[in-house]
Amino acid sequence: MGATVKGIEAGDDRRRIPRHVAIIMDGNGRWAQRRSLPRFAGHKAGVEAVRKVVEFCIQRDIEVLTLFAFSSENWRRPQKEVGLLLDLFMLALNREVKRLKRNNVRLRILGDKTAFPDKLQARIEAAEKSTAEGSGLQLQVAANYGGRWDVAQAVRRLAVKVQAGQLTPEAITEEAIAAELSFAGLPDPDLFIRTGGEQRLSNFLLWQSAYAELYFTDTLWPEFGEQAFGQALASFASRQRRFGQTSEQARAADAGTPSG
Ligand code: IPE
Ligand code: IPE
Ligand code: MG
Repeated sequence: MGATVKGIEAGDDRRRIPRHVAIIMDGNGRWAQRRSLPRFAGHKAGVEAVRKVVEFCIQRDIEVLTLFAFSSENWRRPQKEVGLLLDLFMLALNREVKRLKRNNVRLRILGDKTAFPDKLQARIEAAEKSTAEGSGLQLQVAANYGGRWDVAQAVRRLAVKVQAGQLTPEAITEEAIAAELSFAGLPDPDLFIRTGGEQRLSNFLLWQSAYAELYFTDTLWPEFGEQAFGQALASFASRQRRFGQTSEQARAADAGTPSG
């Protein structure tokens, strides 16, 4: 056995732990409705689930966690629910930042923040700034985020560079686009989880999830705890990622031996 990497023998199962987990946290409304509670109670319970999942990720040495909190399509919900969701977001930022900082977590918010009230934008900026030194878990919360928006904003930035004569159209490669996306520099999601039973992507990380392993569970988000998370990780660990190769090639790559 080789040297240990964060307590795990090199050459064995470290690669079986995803570096980046992305989660569509769905099912808050149904969780509340089943208890004859207002939908908002489900969103509040959802915040508790977020706190726990962040802790599990820290314990399991996961590098990046990206959570879908509010999609660019969620503005279509009743105005009252949207307002309550934004209030809850503000409250959670106020409450959690200290704990995140203590745990060496770096928090970033992904999405078009310009649509948020000024107070919330300022709060987001302050939270990002105060955790900017965090070198542990990289926590990303997607709010007013859409995968198509992300690609469009990246392409728009490249177009500005072309217009300024800093870039030729030929230089617009996959890498160039990827470098302008929301979390350029961090690894792409390895494991993409959706709770709540629906099996769709709902415009989450479209570009970045091109090779993510998808995992759908019926568990509603407020009930997604250590056991459910463990099951998702076990499912990930049992899969062979081939990236276009044959399973034989992938096995050889896993074992660290070159294959023809
Ligand atoms: C996910 O839960 C949270 C947000 C989209 C903000 P939902 O509110 O979509 O819950 P369901 O799907 O109605 O149960
Ligand atoms: C996706 O959930 C967005 C978030 C979890 C924030 P939705 O519940 O809004 O997705 P759809 O509309 O059912 O696809
Ligand atoms: Mg939903």
